[in-house]
Amino acid sequence: MLELKQLKRVYARDDFSSFTAVDNVDLDIMPGDFVSIIGRSGSGKSTMLNMIVGLLRPTSGKILINGADLWSMNDKEMSKIRNSKFGYVPQGLSLLSNLRILDNVRLPFCLDKREGNGIERAMNLLEEMRIQSLAQRYPAQLSGGEMRRVAIARALVNNPEILIADEPTADLDEETSIEVMKLFARINSRGITILMVTHEYDITDYGNRICAMSLGKLVEKK
Ligand SMILES: Nc1ncnc2c1ncn2[C@@H]1O[C@H](COP(=O)(O)OP(=O)(O)OP(=O)(O)O)[C@@H](O)[C@H]1O
Ligand SMILES: [Mg+2]
Repeated sequence: MLELKQLKRVYARDDFSSFTAVDNVDLDIMPGDFVSIIGRSGSGKSTMLNMIVGLLRPTSGKILINGADLWSMNDKEMSKIRNSKFGYVPQGLSLLSNLRILDNVRLPFCLDKREGNGIERAMNLLEEMRIQSLAQRYPAQLSGGEMRRVAIARALVNNPEILIADEPTADLDEETSIEVMKLFARINSRGITILMVTHEYDITDYGNRICAMSLGKLVEKK
């Protein structure tokens, strides 16, 4: 369902040299897969995910979604795919500070012009994350771990086919990390495909496939 073919991204450096952050990566993700990619800081994980979700143009190579070439689509087609098929949990803080938690979670629902207001769906997800009591607060009134769970709820609000998560357990304590991974396993068992990157070895146990990323190259381990 998601295929990377010789995917590559080169960045220009300040001294006019170039740097290959993602180096001819091939990956074929099947429906129902739970793929964990482990790699050190700077190995190119976020660069790769940003190309997959349509935020960063590849230097060369292709990303195919159900056979369709993502980066040859026009803006409208691409945002439709992004809103309906992908749920994306970006690295770091990504909530809108002037929106309440409930509204942050239902924002992608409203952007997709779906029927209804998404409130019930958003509340159900907050409940699943055990943070329903925070629905009316603003992001600045939450802990780092709570904000991360809100970002995961937001990524799920449109019922994506594939959940793409960039370090979903960064800044979570061990117990909450395990809880989030169990939640991912549950989501996966409902048929949602998962692609996750991390630098924590312990959480890769939850997936059915493990890849390692190093200096922009990807190698499948299991
Ligand atoms: N816009 C940019 N311009 C130039 N170089 C960049 C840019 N973005 C990232 N890089 C470089 O590309 C490399 C890969 O970055 P990337 O963010 O993909 O790593 P990562 O594996 O996600 O790391 P981390 O685990 O710290 O999040 C790094 O060396 C980084 O400095
Ligand atoms: Mg990163």
